[in-house]
Amino acid sequence: MSEAKLEAWLDETRSFAPSPAFAKQANAQPSIYADAAADPVSWWRKEAGRLLWEKEPTNTLEWDLPFAKWFSDGTLNASVNCVDRHVAAGKGDKVAYYWVGDAEGESRTITYGELQVMVNKATNALIEMGVKKDDRVAVYMPMIPEAVVAMLAIVRLGAAHSVVFAGFSADALSSRILDSDCTYVVTADGAFRRGAASPLKPAVDEALQTCPNVKGVLVVRRTGGEVEWTEGRDHWWHEIVERQSDEHTPEFFPSEQTMIIMYTSGTTAKPKGIFHTTGGYLTQVASTYNYVFDVKPETDICWTAADIGWITGHSYIIYGPLINGVTQIMYEGVPDSGGKDRWWRIIEQFKATILYTAPTTIRTLMKWGHDLPQAHDLSSLRLLGTVGEPINPEAWMWYREYVGGNRCPIVDTWWQTETGAILISPLPGITATKPGAAMRALPGVGVDVVDNDGNSVGNGEGGYLVITHPWPSMTRGIYGDPERFKETYWTRFPGKYFAGDGAKRDDDGDLWLLGRIDDVMNISGHRLSTTEVEHALVGHPAVAEAAVVGASDETTGQAIVAFVTLKASGADAAKDQVVVIEELRMHVAKVISPIAKPRQIILTPELPKTRSGKIMRRLLRDVAENRSLGDVTTLTDPTVVNMIAELMGTEAGSED
Ligand code: WT7
Repeated sequence: MSEAKLEAWLDETRSFAPSPAFAKQANAQPSIYADAAADPVSWWRKEAGRLLWEKEPTNTLEWDLPFAKWFSDGTLNASVNCVDRHVAAGKGDKVAYYWVGDAEGESRTITYGELQVMVNKATNALIEMGVKKDDRVAVYMPMIPEAVVAMLAIVRLGAAHSVVFAGFSADALSSRILDSDCTYVVTADGAFRRGAASPLKPAVDEALQTCPNVKGVLVVRRTGGEVEWTEGRDHWWHEIVERQSDEHTPEFFPSEQTMIIMYTSGTTAKPKGIFHTTGGYLTQVASTYNYVFDVKPETDICWTAADIGWITGHSYIIYGPLINGVTQIMYEGVPDSGGKDRWWRIIEQFKATILYTAPTTIRTLMKWGHDLPQAHDLSSLRLLGTVGEPINPEAWMWYREYVGGNRCPIVDTWWQTETGAILISPLPGITATKPGAAMRALPGVGVDVVDNDGNSVGNGEGGYLVITHPWPSMTRGIYGDPERFKETYWTRFPGKYFAGDGAKRDDDGDLWLLGRIDDVMNISGHRLSTTEVEHALVGHPAVAEAAVVGASDETTGQAIVAFVTLKASGADAAKDQVVVIEELRMHVAKVISPIAKPRQIILTPELPKTRSGKIMRRLLRDVAENRSLGDVTTLTDPTVVNMIAELMGTEAGSED
């Protein structure tokens, strides 16, 4: 799309009025904002009525800042809410998932009735393996239905799952297993990606060498590759699960039973084990799925194109949609498995009505050209969503025109692993939308933008995003580290949740999210801390020092740029720099994940430091972004920056 066309679009249609077609049939009515604001806690109690409780809660919110309890005297079972209740209501034949494999033509249709049988059998198998209430079970799985089944079986028993994205390394898996002391692991022999099988089980075997407390491993056969086997510890899914009874009578657990642990990067090298409990989390994912996506369970075919290894997959492929009893598409592959038009063919084939994905994917699809979506019938779509990072107006407009045919509202949804569910988004049919803006807090949610001193900024001004009062799906903390939880989120602005994002209120008072303001990077919607990558680099024997920054990237939003000084001994002059750089990139992939591989590594004899010895990351960011450099007077040796800029081949140079 040309710049001029974009400008014209932005000038003419900067704001899109709510779609009248939506307004007529929307699940939410305009009064919803005022109703919720009048008494948010009671409003959430009403929303908790979306769940099937064994014992209805009489408590609502107990708030001992920063620790919240919601609906604490209620009891329920998450798995029953997702599956059994729909079967009991006569919807056993309704499709829960159209699963689409990486390979062309491979698909499975799973009804709610079939899902119930699968979950019951898996639950019985976990019991046989020894899993009990309160245990933590790690899940390291590709995007196959058994991943969903395993998660539902784990929470059915009152245990918690800690899903580790299958792209993470053995090291990353083992540190996560150890941190929350998981005693069981569910995995697969391998995964498929663009037709190629890649093994997963060897990473589990390697990880478990340092995890003596793991008693059992349940392994799905997906690729049929050779696997090593530890007798007594390892169990094939097709053996132990398949021979179980298809009945399981559930127990019910208190609302505050921990059900999810999900590791996410903070500003230090150690990822945080964010945990969520049952009643509040399920209430808010069910409620937001209903209002934000305006789902009609009878007719919608919903596709959240995310991985179950991230919170988006938990909240909007599993819990939110299943509680609402909708039919979904679950896709195993990457956007170009089987061709660059694969997505459009999936939408056409299954007549998807709702599509939810990340800006980085939209930009990738956009790069492949609008001819591809235009060659397919996408008229079934009625709503589009985006999540994970700020969406640039150009990508938003492309999504609107070429995917949504200018008729589908776009919901730009802001939230975090910690928030559990969407907190900021337009409501389709009710809220106007603007390309690039998440617009406003959802009903029952209090959001503000504040300055350095914690005072609200006016319209047209920017500041820090804070959440002003507790919400049901808020994280209950960092696993095993309540102090870090307080420190990270609740001390910067006393009494308010500090999200770590910058935000702006425009002249109309609408919210624009501006990205992280801390050392957290957002690479293709994946959250990584600069320190985590620095830590990995410094762990390599040849590296003396490393500084990592996130630089803008056209496709991935941000990309990792690392500045590295080598140890005198390690700087083997005979070794080609290109070889060293590749070795370091592979090292980071091994320690963290291929997604953490720096786009660029610059070997430099020195890093720019302040007189007190701190690395000046701000300057490195400027160099990486090719911006002119500001004040460098506090540097011990200002020429270092110019030297680095030259090494990078950028134009950056000190302004004086
Ligand atoms: C960070 C949270 C929530 C699931 C995916 C990411 C950024 C998320 C938006 C959005 C601008 C966004 C924020 C946030 N982010 N959604 N719509 N607009 N930024 O979860 O890995 O916990 O990352 O993603 O910076 O803090 P996460």
